[in-house]
Parts: sequence; C-alpha cells; structure tokens
Amino acid sequence: MDYTFQYPEASLTVDAAIESVASHLAAAPLWYGHGTDNPDDEAAWLVFHVCGIDYPIPDGAYAQSVTKQQLQRIDELLSRRVTERQPLPYLLNEAWFAGLKFFVDERVLIPRSPFAELIADGFQPWLGDIKPQRILEIGTGSGCIAIACALAFPDAEVVATDISPDALAVARENVARHQLEDRVQLLEADLFNGVPGKFDLIVTNPPYVPVEAANNLPEEYNHEPLLALKSGNDGLDAARGILHDSAAHMQSHAILFLEVGAQWEALDSACPELPFMWLEFEHGGEGIAMIAAQSLVTANR
Ligand SMILES: C[S@@+](CC[C@H](N)C(=O)[O-])C[C@H]1O[C@@H](n2cnc3c(N)ncnc32)[C@H](O)[C@@H]1O
Repeated sequence: MDYTFQYPEASLTVDAAIESVASHLAAAPLWYGHGTDNPDDEAAWLVFHVCGIDYPIPDGAYAQSVTKQQLQRIDELLSRRVTERQPLPYLLNEAWFAGLKFFVDERVLIPRSPFAELIADGFQPWLGDIKPQRILEIGTGSGCIAIACALAFPDAEVVATDISPDALAVARENVARHQLEDRVQLLEADLFNGVPGKFDLIVTNPPYVPVEAANNLPEEYNHEPLLALKSGNDGLDAARGILHDSAAHMQSHAILFLEVGAQWEALDSACPELPFMWLEFEHGGEGIAMIAAQSLVTANR
C-alpha cells in the first residue's frame, strides 16, 4: 500500500497528533493483537513513545506540543507500521507486560500472555500457602514472565530456559534492565534437557500454533520467530513434551501452569487422564491449564 502521512507545518498538540495517527491507522488494513487491540490505543502508544511520555500518563501530557522533529519520527513509524505491517512493539523496541517495560525485537515473541493476570494475583488462590522458592519458566522469549515472577516473589530464584540463543540474548538484556541478574538464571535448553533440580512452580507459554494455522496468520505475525509460534501439526508437540517430563522436576507440592491458548480443547481431549483446571481471566485471554505434581505422577504411573 502506498502511504504518506502528511504532517502539518504548524505545530500540533499530542492530542491532535494521536487523533491524526489513529485515523490513518484505522484506514489501513492492519491487524491488532500485539499489545493493543484498536487503532486509538496504538496511536496513543506511538505518539507518547516518540514524545518521551511514559505510562502512567502525567496530567497535561495531551496538551503538550509536538515538535517538527517528533512529527517526522511519528510519520516514519506510522509509515513503516502500515507498509511493512510490523507490529508496533518491534518498531519501538518496547513492550509492556504485567505493568513492566521490556526491550523486544524480532528475536522474541511480543509479550501478550494472560500469565500477566496470574502473576499480578500472585497465582492466588491456586498457590494457597505455597511460597515458591524455585520457579522454572520454559520458553522465556523476552524473559517477561520470568522477570515478572521474580518481582512478584522477591525471595524466589527463577530459572528461565529457551531453545533459542537469540531469544536468550534479549532475555539477558531485560534481566539486566530489571537488575535481576542474581535471581534470574537464563539457560539454553530444549524443554527440560539439562535443567537442574526440582521446582515449586513451573510456568510455561510454549509455542502452540498448529503448522497449518501458522501459515495463515495475519501479516504482523510473520515478523515473529516461527520457533515461538509453531509446534507440530496439532500445535501440541511442546505441551506434550512438557507434560511428559514435568513431574520429575517438581516438588511433591508443586504446580504447573501451562498455556496452550486456543488449543486448550484439543489438549483437554488428547489427555483425558489429566485433570486440568482451565483458568478464567478478567482481562481477556484463555487456555492456561493448572495441574498439580501429584496428578502428573498418578497419570504417568
Ligand atoms: C510463545 S513463546 C513465549 C515467550 C515468552 N515466554 C512470552 O510469554 O512472551 C515460546 C518460546 O518458547 C521457545 N521454545 C520453542 N521450543 C522450545 C523448546 N523445545 N524448549 C525450550 N524453549 C522453546 C521459543 O524460542 C519462544 O521463545
């Protein structure tokens, strides 16, 4: 699509710039689902970012003037968003998860998991009295879940794995930005291969898109690493591997939280012997199962 954003010679307020960007976004055939779900929120994020306005938005921010240089930058980003169909977080190298800011680029999936809500609730009421000392995250990508867990449980040690060295480089950057080097250990591993010890809590958002569906996603998803999306014909290869080996890495009181998104019914039917509890979310999202170590041990017998 040929595209030019005409920025005016006269100065604009932040409010007017957001309105203008939103109308250009709304007129383009874009897909939302990488941190925002509509053109207005995406326009606000883009303009705030360029103008150096951080969340929570301070009073008076909307009336601030946008400089000519900032308008040029807004123009550039808007134009790339529309013509390249890049998700905004990659263009800004910024994503938000659980109220925290993360560096992202095309080496990692853009954070959007409903795990954020579970972490904000401290995994209550599911954890009850369990105070996790050792937490494992499999498939950490940007590190967002591992980092948010480390901040939610300040006494815990977190091991965060990924099979992708590229993803781990981004996670390392984020662990450093959140100053968690002493409590979040990053490990290159294929599922549990080489993961040491037992854990009180395992969390994982592995790839779960069926191969065929992965080939038919909106253009924006083609910028994300395939390794983070695709997982066999039914999307459940990684989930099956995790369920098979989890018990050996869990303390007897431990709990596994496994995300499979829209594949949840397929996983539920494929594993009738496993008593999954499928969680509900106030802020959207689906497909996170909770299952206790004891149930996995019984099923493996
Ligand atoms: C859906 S992304 C989740 C990223 C991050 N946890 C999040 O929620 O934004 C899945 C991640 O699992 C990693 N992955 C894929 N196969 C894996 C495997 N066999 N072992 C470990 N990690 C794997 C991918 O590289 C990717 O970073």
